[in-house]
Amino acid sequence: MGQEQRLGRRTVLGAAALSAGAAVLGTTGTAQAAGRFRPSGLPVPAVIGHRGASGYRPEHTFGSYDLALDMGADIVEQDLVATKDGHLICRHENDITATTDVADHPEFADRRTTKSVDGEEHTGWFTEDFTLAEIKKLRATERIPGQRQQNTLYNGRWTVPTFEEVIQWAHREGKKRGRPVWLHAETKHPSYFRKLGLGLEERLARLLRKYGLHRRNSPVFLQSFEPSSIQRLSKLVGTPGVVLLWTADSQPWDFTEAGDPRTVADLVTPEGLDWIAGYARGIGPLLDLIIPKGPDGQLGEPTTLVPDAHDRGLVLHPYTMRNENSFLPAEFRRGDNPNDYGDAFGAYRMYYETGIDGIFSDNPDTARLAAEDFRRSRG
Ligand code: G3P
Ligand code: CA
Repeated sequence: MGQEQRLGRRTVLGAAALSAGAAVLGTTGTAQAAGRFRPSGLPVPAVIGHRGASGYRPEHTFGSYDLALDMGADIVEQDLVATKDGHLICRHENDITATTDVADHPEFADRRTTKSVDGEEHTGWFTEDFTLAEIKKLRATERIPGQRQQNTLYNGRWTVPTFEEVIQWAHREGKKRGRPVWLHAETKHPSYFRKLGLGLEERLARLLRKYGLHRRNSPVFLQSFEPSSIQRLSKLVGTPGVVLLWTADSQPWDFTEAGDPRTVADLVTPEGLDWIAGYARGIGPLLDLIIPKGPDGQLGEPTTLVPDAHDRGLVLHPYTMRNENSFLPAEFRRGDNPNDYGDAFGAYRMYYETGIDGIFSDNPDTARLAAEDFRRSRG
């Protein structure tokens, strides 16, 4: 989990096995459930551009989103946080220290502070302390310059998008490309923002309604690591919701706050999936919940999570594939440099064969080619 942790994560409760909850499946699972949610017009497996094409451009910029579409992403992901004046903007977390040039703005120097966010201390600059007009003075930067030095070429080129701008962009691009451009919008730290009086869900629902994207068949997915955020959204709009699941031993932050003892291991049991299917149309599990890795870092046998979720009508959009060795299962790494590309195609093949409906990828071009290979292999 080291690499995922470096990209921003939630707390864990202990060191339980990743395969807890879903049993290990002896063969590759491809169960097809009657009544499974089938988003119209989306190929299976669909390619979800993770934060755009974040393997090649600073994440959550129009440079990253445009490239994701050019590279063949079917869906483009946004992470959403709120500004002080209540606008939804596209950032992976409310701490914008690592992904903008805010530290270079002397006029904002006194906004640097330390806060507890979902139980973790963070020191930096936070979106809720800035108006949208102030956020628009900042420029986006590469999150992991040590690993993706090439992307730093684009530091400062783009501003931070609002979700409303993204909706308008998707509409324009859809017209231009003659196909719907799907979005996959995640509420980030929803309990935290609600306590600040900046509830994300109502703001998101308002925007979706304004642009007619509040329907069951709208080309948008809504995702969150906090199930209560998806429950809240399901009461406001028909747009399909996806519950994100991290490691088996982790606990959604809203559960922690509410004293709900369940962990992700409980949510991937048949009972847990039944509960999710009561208000969501899909799950977004960590890839390790679909194929756990052994102590050697190599893929083991798939769990029953794919067929179990499909049996309940849920689609699966697991995360996150990245081409660099450091992010790949051990048997697909090539050479000693963690930043070099490994055999990502081999890893995609393994994950696609489990029957997943889509995958979040920092490299949509690789994910797309692998998906085409996979579909061809299936005739
Ligand atoms: O939302 C799917 C995937 O993006 C979850 O991880 O932390 O990158 O938002 P994260
Ligand atoms: Ca996300």
